[in-house]
Formats: sequence, C-alpha cells, structure tokens
Amino acid sequence: MIKVDNLSKSYGSIEAVKSLSFEINDGEIVGFLGANGAGKSTTLKVMTGFLRPTSGNVYVDDLNILDHEREIQKRIGYLPELNPLYVDMKVFDLLKFHATIRGMTDKQFKTALERVVHDCGLSGVIHRTVGDCSKGFKQRIGLAVAMIHDPEILILDEPVTGLDPNQIVEIRQLIKQLGKEKLVIMSSHILQEIQATVDKIIIINNGELVAEGSSEELIASAQGLAQLTLEIQDADENAIQEMKAFIPSLSIHTLESSEKSSFVTLEYANTSDPRKEIFDYAVKNQWSILEMSQSKTNLEDVFRSLTQKGDQGNA
Ligand SMILES: Nc1ncnc2c1ncn2[C@@H]1O[C@H](COP(=O)(O)OP(=O)(O)OP(=O)(O)O)[C@@H](O)[C@H]1O
Ligand SMILES: [Mg+2]
Repeated sequence: MIKVDNLSKSYGSIEAVKSLSFEINDGEIVGFLGANGAGKSTTLKVMTGFLRPTSGNVYVDDLNILDHEREIQKRIGYLPELNPLYVDMKVFDLLKFHATIRGMTDKQFKTALERVVHDCGLSGVIHRTVGDCSKGFKQRIGLAVAMIHDPEILILDEPVTGLDPNQIVEIRQLIKQLGKEKLVIMSSHILQEIQATVDKIIIINNGELVAEGSSEELIASAQGLAQLTLEIQDADENAIQEMKAFIPSLSIHTLESSEKSSFVTLEYANTSDPRKEIFDYAVKNQWSILEMSQSKTNLEDVFRSLTQKGDQGNA
C-alpha cells in the first residue's frame, strides 16, 4: 500500500505539488495523469525518495519516506522520465552494475538476472549494447533495471511516451503482466496511452488532485454531458444564439458556418433530454435540419475539462 498524505513540494516560489493526498492498494495498476507541468514527475520523485517533500509525507505500508527513505527505496522500482540509461554498456553489464549498487551478491544477481530477462523479455538483447537497442527495448531494459531487486512497487514515469503504436501495445502488455504481482503507478499526459492498462486513474492539475476513480466512475462523476451536433440550413445566427434563452439547459459549444449550412454543437447534462424542445425551436424558426447526431461524454472529455479548468477559469 502507498499513501500520499497532504504532500506539497515547492521549487523556490513554484508550488509544483499542493496538498496532494491519495492511496493505492496492493495489486492495483494506477494511471497518474495530468497535463505537462501538472506536477506528476515531482510527485513521483518525492514518492521514491529522490526529492524531500516541502510538507506532508508518503507512506509505504508501515514506513514513511521522511524517516525510512532507504527501506522504502528497497521496496520500490523506479523508471524515471526519459529513462536515462548508460548507452555504451552491454545490457548484461548494465544490469550487473545496478545489482552491485544494490549490494547484491553474484549468486543473487544470477537469480535476479534470470527473473528480469524472463519478465521483461530481454533474452534476445542481453549481450547487445544498450544504445543499439530500439526504443521499445530500451524501455524494457529500463524496467529490468527498476526491477533487479524484485521490488513490490513499480513507479513508472511516462513509460510509453515516445514509443511507436506497436511498442506502446507491447509495453502496456508487459506492465499489465507485471501489475498482476506488483502495485504499479504509471504517469502519462496522454489518457489513451494508459487507459487500457490501468484499474484506476488519478488526475492532477496545477499540482492538485482533481479526480480519482475508475474510468466508469470518472465519467459518472463528471455527470456525463451529452452532445448534439446539428447541421442546419437557412438558420439565422442570432436565432441560434437565442436558443439558449428558450432552452436554458443547453450550452452552445461551437458554431461554424459555411455558405449553406451552420454547424452547431449543443451540450447538456445526460440527466436531461432537450431534443424535443430543440426540434420545436427549429420548426418555429423554419430551419431545415440536415443532420442531428448525439454523442455521450467520453473519458477524454472528462480529462480535458478537468485539466483545462485552471486555464479557462471555469468548470
Ligand atoms: N527542478 C526544478 N526547478 C524548478 N521548477 C521545477 C523543477 N522541476 C519541475 N519544476 C516545475 O514544477 C512544475 C511541475 O513539474 P513536473 O515536472 O513535476 O510536471 P509533470 O507533470 O511531470 O510535467 P511533464 O508532463 O511535462 O513531464 C512545473 O511548473 C515545472 O516547471
Ligand atoms: Mg514529468
């Protein structure tokens, strides 16, 4: 179990993380999401003991990071952002090097090597130079480095960013496999990259928690907005804008006009259904509706609305 408790971290006057609290249980794979600069890497660095918190604490089972940094680091495997590896070393030598740093004996290393080569699918590249491996294999090597001491927890900072779509699928499958036995937290600024891998999602924005839950829970808690897109012929733009006065539950999202048609996207809470009122309004204004299509909120919309909050100054 990991518990982040009221964690804040500032760099001088920059408050990167603000009173952040969340818990992750054993056996969970959690996606840690936020836009660029949201504070993901800072949070993960504090969780791994690489940075001291400004205030607050991080607990791993019965230990806390302020008092038991070394002990906690034994329980954690960390894949840093951009996966810095010694590119001139052979994969074998790199893993041996990290095992030595961890104080492992030759015998312990031999067992650990077999385990990580098997778990990370490295048998084909073990005698290759790191720099000659593909980006996907470099991520596997980074994971093997993070796992050489058989930690219970994996903290992965943007593990799939920069990979091609095939490599993303491969690394996702690998992480999912590892997540069967370990607690995994992986960050990303792209929802689709990790949505398929994780059990739970934590979203931060400007260093603060904005949402936490399964994909389904997040969509439900965003009260699911429905969208209706209309293509209307012969519509007067003022009449389109005035529609809100007649149907207050609507927000008129976008408005584009070509020579012949106006395209309007209307948004309303899933709990209401103003379609009949919209249709009546169209008839009253003698609009010809060429197309009317409805779409429900998806997780991407929830993420966008939560992480653009600060920028737009509205919900
Ligand atoms: N060493 C540092 N010194 C000063 N400010 C920093 C430092 N590291 C990060 N920051 C600032 O702290 C904030 C959070 O940065 P952080 O790297 O944690 O975000 P992130 O969510 O990981 O972003 P990204 O998606 O770009 O990796 C940003 O405003 C960043 O500019
Ligand atoms: Mg980062």
